[in-house]
Amino acid sequence: MAGRIRFVAHAGVDHVIFLIANMELVDWEEQIFRRIFEDCSRLAEELKFASCMGIPVSTVEGDNLVKPSEFSHWYSGPTLMSYLECAGDAATAESHAFRMKVTTASRDGGSGCGGMVLSGKISIGDRVRIAPGGVETRVKSISAVQDELERAVAGESVTLGFEDDIAVTDGNVISTSLDPIELSDQFEAKVICLSSLVPGRPYLIRMDTAEANATLTAVKYVVDLDSGAHLAAKKLDANDIGIVNISVAKPLPFESYKKNKSLGRFLLLDKNSHDLLAVGMIDFALRRASNIHWQGLSIDKKARAELKQQKPCCLWFTGLSGSGKSTIANLLEKRLFSMGLHSYILDGDNVRHGLNRDLGFTETDRVENIRRVAEVARLMVDAGLMVIVSFLSPFRSEREFARTLFDEGEFWEIFVDTPFEECERRDTKGLYAKARKGDLKNFTGIDSPYQVPESPEIRLETVGRSPEACVDSILKALHD
Ligand code: ADX
Repeated sequence: MAGRIRFVAHAGVDHVIFLIANMELVDWEEQIFRRIFEDCSRLAEELKFASCMGIPVSTVEGDNLVKPSEFSHWYSGPTLMSYLECAGDAATAESHAFRMKVTTASRDGGSGCGGMVLSGKISIGDRVRIAPGGVETRVKSISAVQDELERAVAGESVTLGFEDDIAVTDGNVISTSLDPIELSDQFEAKVICLSSLVPGRPYLIRMDTAEANATLTAVKYVVDLDSGAHLAAKKLDANDIGIVNISVAKPLPFESYKKNKSLGRFLLLDKNSHDLLAVGMIDFALRRASNIHWQGLSIDKKARAELKQQKPCCLWFTGLSGSGKSTIANLLEKRLFSMGLHSYILDGDNVRHGLNRDLGFTETDRVENIRRVAEVARLMVDAGLMVIVSFLSPFRSEREFARTLFDEGEFWEIFVDTPFEECERRDTKGLYAKARKGDLKNFTGIDSPYQVPESPEIRLETVGRSPEACVDSILKALHD
């Protein structure tokens, strides 16, 4: 039972009711109820539920479910039904700061918006701020379906009219200027996983108010549901509950889930399929991000590229081990060099001797391997170079992530399409043989997947074709 209670506690449930059932089997013995409920209360206290209630019941006879039991004269508390009728959600209390989620932007082209008051209250004349933009104005009118109101409180759906003509869009959050909602692009959050989550991999975060690209920057720990212990982990698997740091591509308005469920919850989705991977609850914002600003520099990519008289780009080779990536990349660089073009090769085997020497071949490490090399390639393209990346890069989502770092037309995915059987036959480094013997784990194509590119800029079939011919077709495509 403890595991299940821990699960609901971590899933954001605030209130817990323990139904001590089958009381008729123990003759409605008070001491038995008390003993069991004491254990439950201790657990509820440990898990910090806002409230914990215990009710002795008989599910066969329905005692204390709807009607009070004539056998539990020692119990003076409510039945389950009457308890549920009185239970409320403190999060929507009027005493909280005013938060309204905009669901209907301007009405009749005028300045105003409709939405639901999630918490707090608002009156005519109050000064408000619209997030994420930060524009401020004053409330001129408040109306419900039929009536003009002086004020609105949590739970009501109203339309606000503003003094100034300002643009408001769906998903904006309105708060008072005195107590505005926070915006952040870095959070600590709790996630409940339906699928595995890997730090560094690009995901989509969907909140009630907005959507953005997001990555996990760290897994702090996974909760062991049986013991409650915090376990170290590098990634999260399906059914895990974990505490993570999340970085989002743009600042989002939010509140901690404890304070406001609607503004503190989110979904993590697969970027391509939009499959649901995890549900999450924000604990708090991490401040680091707001203290690091982008430093504008006078000499830019265009100026550097003009000096070299070349068009900087990232030529990203992907393919199985032994497919011929490095051979073709090497020949390509020789040709570019002879044409007076300034290039640089980032090769998987080489980079793993230095910058990425701490990484192995698990899924988590490969995601980080690609994230780092993609960022390095971006810096090199910014420096005006033609960068050749030759990494196995087996996962679609990381190749797509790499693509997002570059401007339109700068990123070329080059799929070195050599069949697995041919790579294994060549086995230039003897690694396939080792993997077959079981001496090498997570080997791509054997016990680790390779996701074939769906629409690469260039696809090179190498069987029956010389590396020189492959380079010719790359140069032709670049020239075109
Ligand atoms: S990636 O998957 O993370 O992109 P990367 O390109 O850096 O891989 O390194 C792949 C190279 O490491 C291969 O060409 C091969 O020589 C070597 N290697 C060693 N172990 C493995 C493994 N388990 N799977 C694939 N390649 C491996």
